[in-house]
Amino acid sequence: MERDNWSSRSTFILAAVGSAVGLGNAWRFPGLAAKHGGGAFLLVYLIALFLLGIPLLAMEISMGRRIHQGVPGTLRTINKKAEHIGWIAVSNGLFISVYYAVVFAWVILMFFLSYKFAGFTEAEDGIAQASSLWLTTIKTTGTTSGYGTISLPVLGCLILAWGSCYYCIRNGSASVGKVVRYTVSLPVLCLLILAIRGFTMPGAGEGLAKLFIPDWSALSDSTLWVDAIGQVFYSLSVAMAIMFAYGSYLDSRSNVAVDTIIIAVSDMLISVLAAIVMFSTMAGTGMLDNMTASGISTAFIVYPQAIVNLTKIPVVNAIFALVFYFCLITLAIDSLFSIVEGTTTAISDKFKLPKKKTTIIMCIIEFFIGIFFCTGAGLAWLDIVDNFINSYTLVLTGILEAIAVGWFFKTSKVLDEINKNTSNFKMPTVWFYPSIKVITPVVLSILFIWNIVSLFKNGGIYGANDGYSLASNIIGGWLIIALSIFSGLIVKLIVFRLKKKGFKEDDRNWDFFKN
Ligand code: PHE
Repeated sequence: MERDNWSSRSTFILAAVGSAVGLGNAWRFPGLAAKHGGGAFLLVYLIALFLLGIPLLAMEISMGRRIHQGVPGTLRTINKKAEHIGWIAVSNGLFISVYYAVVFAWVILMFFLSYKFAGFTEAEDGIAQASSLWLTTIKTTGTTSGYGTISLPVLGCLILAWGSCYYCIRNGSASVGKVVRYTVSLPVLCLLILAIRGFTMPGAGEGLAKLFIPDWSALSDSTLWVDAIGQVFYSLSVAMAIMFAYGSYLDSRSNVAVDTIIIAVSDMLISVLAAIVMFSTMAGTGMLDNMTASGISTAFIVYPQAIVNLTKIPVVNAIFALVFYFCLITLAIDSLFSIVEGTTTAISDKFKLPKKKTTIIMCIIEFFIGIFFCTGAGLAWLDIVDNFINSYTLVLTGILEAIAVGWFFKTSKVLDEINKNTSNFKMPTVWFYPSIKVITPVVLSILFIWNIVSLFKNGGIYGANDGYSLASNIIGGWLIIALSIFSGLIVKLIVFRLKKKGFKEDDRNWDFFKN
């Protein structure tokens, strides 16, 4: 069967940028910058981007391109055991897509509720109403119990979320290529509009100073380093099966070394643009100190409060709310479908299933699992799962991928693949080798251990420092981690049974496609 291909170089770059640029850029990055002394965080972020992020991103894209398979099939060519690492990445993608779709549904919900801002007149009253709008509509209990209640508006938006996600990926790279032109350019346009409003607010300068003038004392706080490295990973969409899949649809003539840099730098610039919007707007509305709030509350609780004070005319504020949530919709959709595309590519490649059917079935299953997050207990569970996946399985996948390539494979073969076709710029050996062989595994291992230690230190043996119960941490955290780690064995079992019915595993090796 002919494999899909991206229709052009720019289509691939846009799709990868669309995946990388997501809600993480809009609220996680500004929130972390605020927490960690502005410019000091930016600097460490940049260092981590160049030392760890870019080499790993280039590795994932180039390996996918070489083998033309999703992540498990690609890693299998290094060593059959390495396929397990691929399934951990796929599990990351599966779990994240289920709850990312719910966050996307909240964004859609707020977009529809934007008109309400036209009614929030009196400052104090309006602010209270604005900040409770999301919390009351999603009907959260704030705890891990309360499955009985379900928010119908959220459920409706979740149907819309999955419907639009399926629509964008129904024909694989062909339909993705068509939508990314809009889903990448529109959020940038919206952010520029919001930045102009932010800039022109009295007091905005104070916010920008806080963002760009480094507070060097923050560098001595180790959580800054941990957060910056984690954010680089999350933001580049690595270790989630996505970039292998997107690479697998590349033509072998593409230029991975240069494209990777374009993708990573665009992602970073859009993060900085979002931070400019947040810092100037928050300073302009006198809420700069609220910026340290965690990501989700920034978008759904803090920013709505700021909207009420954007201008003195409520109707105009409602229009800004509309622009803001539309921006978030366009930011989130291409990240959501990229992660679904990553997992369906892996599954359909492995089991030789038709891609379109696999996509429909996966979207439906993930929608149904996601309904759980629309209940009163949903927000708390989402918090737990998100926390555990980001702190452990994503980091673990990065470590294992780097070790597999750096220690158990000829690293030079991957670097050759990255530098194939490039005449103007080649990724130097002194950049790629130390990064993949030493820096990435060592730094990520420290990060992994750091996360475990702080979990146990703060919350006892099960790490309930988040205030949730032991049982919920075990189910939402440890069980999910165990499922990810053992997913390769589950696949092996399925393959074992299928083989009895005549199924043959794909056993291509690195040289399957001759140059
Ligand atoms: N890079 C994305 C972001 O910053 C992370 C992500 C990608 C999350 C794909 C989910 C799906 O938001």
